[in-house]
Amino acid sequence: MVAAPSFSCFVTGTDTGVGKSLVAAALLHACRARGFTTVGMKPVAAGCELIEGEWRNEDVEALIAASSISAPRELVNPYLFNAAIAPHIAATDASVTISGTHIAQCYARLAELAQAVIVEGAGGFLVPLNASEDMGHLAQALRLPVVLVVGMRLGCLNHAMLTAEAIHARGLTLTGWVANRIDPEMPRFEENLATLQTALPAPLLGTLPFFQQPDAHAAAACLTLPA
Ligand SMILES: Nc1ncnc2c1ncn2[C@@H]1O[C@H](COP(=O)(O)OP(=O)(O)OP(=O)(O)O)[C@@H](O)[C@H]1O
Ligand SMILES: [Mg+2]
Repeated sequence: MVAAPSFSCFVTGTDTGVGKSLVAAALLHACRARGFTTVGMKPVAAGCELIEGEWRNEDVEALIAASSISAPRELVNPYLFNAAIAPHIAATDASVTISGTHIAQCYARLAELAQAVIVEGAGGFLVPLNASEDMGHLAQALRLPVVLVVGMRLGCLNHAMLTAEAIHARGLTLTGWVANRIDPEMPRFEENLATLQTALPAPLLGTLPFFQQPDAHAAAACLTLPA
């Protein structure tokens, strides 16, 4: 029997707060439903809250909750900073240099543990990691196809097309994109969606409605994994 292809990817977004975590968790559920073992990875997280006596980041917790296997936390989230600020600034404050090489080593170990590794970036595609590398370099180092989450709100056309160009310029494959309806009042939603479907060089994996209570299982039901 021919093994089903794995589906690992790097989830980026048009901005911070556009639904990368929701989509990453949904992709974990969708991959699991296809029969893959899955694990989420948040290489760099900035912003902690005290949960049961531990400083935790909600993205990391959401990815762990959506993963089918349990992996060491230091692999799932190699870099964690308290302040919810740009990662390279948080790292400088903590006298840490974020290493793309170290993250790639952690990813390689996760890829040995699960068939599908869903990696969530931080912020948008060109957010700096350190003085010379950004999130896009990290996606390159991990050799992953990219899924773009478009936060559907005014301004998203420009952000989506700039991001698609940046992904292409880095020699990476935009394997699909998700229209996430974060603004239920967005004027002319359907026309904006149609514009993106024409302009973006990748298939629309699904449209997420505005959820009163966002839920990764419900979001997974709206997505189709790339072939
Ligand atoms: N379709 C949706 N309907 C309603 N709320 C949503 C939807 N998508 C995302 N949200 C909410 O918007 C907020 C930001 O979403 P999320 O945390 O997934 O974004 P993100 O891109 O991962 O952000 P970050 O850059 O901080 O990692 C969250 O509170 C989330 O629950
Ligand atoms: Mg997130």
